[in-house]
Amino acid sequence: MNTEKKVGYAVVGLGIGRAHMDAAAASERADLVAVCDLIEKKLDAAKKKYPYVRTYTDFDEMIKSPDIDIVSICLPSAMHAEYAVRAMRAGKHVLIEKPVDITVESAMKIEEERARTGLVAGVVHQNRYNVPMAPMKAAVDEGRLGSLILGTFAVKWYREQSYYDGSWHGTWEQDGGGSLMNQAVHTVDLMQWLMGEVESVNSVMGIYNHKIDTEDLTVSTVKFKSGAVASFISTTCAYPGISTDICLYGSRGTIEVDADILKTWKLADSDDEDAEEEEMLKKYGRGNGGSPDVITGHRAVVEDIISAVLDGHEPRITPLEAMKSVRIVEAIYESARTGKSVRV
Ligand SMILES: NC(=O)c1ccc[n+]([C@@H]2O[C@H](COP(=O)([O-])OP(=O)(O)OC[C@H]3O[C@@H](n4cnc5c(N)ncnc54)[C@H](O)[C@@H]3O)[C@@H](O)[C@H]2O)c1
Repeated sequence: MNTEKKVGYAVVGLGIGRAHMDAAAASERADLVAVCDLIEKKLDAAKKKYPYVRTYTDFDEMIKSPDIDIVSICLPSAMHAEYAVRAMRAGKHVLIEKPVDITVESAMKIEEERARTGLVAGVVHQNRYNVPMAPMKAAVDEGRLGSLILGTFAVKWYREQSYYDGSWHGTWEQDGGGSLMNQAVHTVDLMQWLMGEVESVNSVMGIYNHKIDTEDLTVSTVKFKSGAVASFISTTCAYPGISTDICLYGSRGTIEVDADILKTWKLADSDDEDAEEEEMLKKYGRGNGGSPDVITGHRAVVEDIISAVLDGHEPRITPLEAMKSVRIVEAIYESARTGKSVRV
């Protein structure tokens, strides 16, 4: 690892982009150089926190700067491809918020530009860094669950109407969907990462408790190429935001997680099932906050892109990898619209 060199870091979009800004400012391997937003108040707040940062309202003006190596693209979802491509054309590496874009077709433009320029492009799916995810994925890959039979995934969240009012949230044009494309796309990513390639989906969706264009609830049956099946629920109607189930059931074991908290670890191949579960729950049953030494969330993703650029490796989640969840979301919406099973 090259520990001497540093990257110049910039962020566009200061909603969740503030987490990118804080992560870049905290990194020993980056200098936070510039931030961009249309709203002056947000730029003033950034400047107050980091007096050395340059602020811009014009993205193209910002990316002219030679001291910027990486730009985090934290704009409304339908703007990701356009701005990522503009940044790469200016010679900048990019870290793009989830979903990579709202259609596979537009996300492909990012991949094409990345391939053409040889720059690094990464996508934020920080839930892969949640502490129980590494042991869960390892247990699957090592075959400790036997053959996977069933997954249950349920993103039971809540959003007030005010979250949608006058916003790009919950619009087909800018958000690309509702509870599924926006909130649950992280868990779609985890589902395909843990359970493998999806063959087909059968879905329903509806608007149950908000005045929005898109949906605030989807329910799907998912079939995998492996023969396994899963149920997938997304909603922003589950007051006050109940849980995120990520549960796997195999012929030889069960692992159940709620968001970042391990709940159940029962593996039949264990020398002592109960003792192993107790140890795993002690380690991973208190979530990300239970392991203060482990870097998670946006800090982890920003460190990953910095390392990818400085140390010359692929980022953990590439545009092609992130497109898989968008492809599944597109299939779920098509199935819900047509009432038919849709192949992915
Ligand atoms: N990884 C996560 O957990 C996570 C969490 C929240 C949001 N997101 C994603 O991040 C993206 C942004 O979401 P958000 O909640 O921060 O939205 P937001 O509306 O709070 O912030 C977007 C910002 O972009 C600015 N902006 C819009 N157009 C601009 C332009 N042309 N130039 C400069 N600035 C511009 C807006 O003024 C706004 O401040 C979305 O794609 C969303 O899905 C990811």
